Amino acid sequence: MIYITIDGPAGSGKSSVARSLAKELEFEHLDTGALYRVAALRWLRAKNREEEPDKFIEKMSFTNFELKDGKIFVNDIPLGNEIRTPEVGKVVSKVAEIPEIRDVITRKTRELAQNKRVVVEGRDIGTIVLPNACVKIFLTASVQERARRRYEEYKSKGVNISFEEVIREIKSRDRIDSTRKVAPLKAAKDAVLFNTDGFTLEEVVDRLKNLVMREIKKC
Ligand code: C5P
Repeated sequence: MIYITIDGPAGSGKSSVARSLAKELEFEHLDTGALYRVAALRWLRAKNREEEPDKFIEKMSFTNFELKDGKIFVNDIPLGNEIRTPEVGKVVSKVAEIPEIRDVITRKTRELAQNKRVVVEGRDIGTIVLPNACVKIFLTASVQERARRRYEEYKSKGVNISFEEVIREIKSRDRIDSTRKVAPLKAAKDAVLFNTDGFTLEEVVDRLKNLVMREIKKC
C-alpha cells in the first residue's frame, strides 16, 4: 500500500488535483469530503423527519462505503451530485464537527484505503487519518480564487447561487473547519505546502507528480 494525502481548504483545487494526480500515477482516488457530505445529506433528511440525532449517528456507522475506480458507493448505490448542493454545503462543516461522525468517517476512510495505492484528499488526512502516509501535500489558494472555482463548479451543475453567497460559504467553512476542537484543518508538520494561485491544473499536477515520484522511492 502507498498513501498520498492531499489536505486543504474548500476550493483549494484538492479534488481536481487529487483526481488527476491519481490518474497519472495509476492510483485510486478517495475524496473524504464526499463522505462528510453523505453524512450532511443524511442529517438534513433526518432533521426533516424529526429523527433523534443518535439514530442518525448509528445509521452512519452501519452504512457501507465502497470505492471502485474512484467512485464511491453507499450501500451499493453510486454517489451522485445530490451531495454537491448549496444546502449540503451550508451544513456540512457543522455535521463534520460532531466527534462521533468524525470517528465513523475516519474509521471508514482507513478501511477504504487499506492495502491500496491511493491518493486520499480531505482536511485531516495527513494529520489524523493517515499520519504514516508516504507523501503529504497541503494545498492553499486565496479566498477569491477558491470562491471563483466553487462558483464555476456550481454554475456548471446548474445551481442558482450568487458569487457573494459562495464567498460567504467558503469563509464560514474555513472558520468552522480550522477552529473546531477535533481534527481541525491544518497542514501536517511533514506536509509540502503548495499555493495554487496563478497555476493551471496541469502545472500543479505536473509539479506534484514529480515530487511524488521523488519521494515515493524513500517510502
Ligand atoms: O472537500 P469538501 O469541501 O467537499 O468537504 C466538505 C466538508 O467536509 C468540509 O468543509 C469539512 O467540513 C468536512 N471535511 C472534514 N474532514 C475531511 C474532509 C472533509 O471535516 N477529511
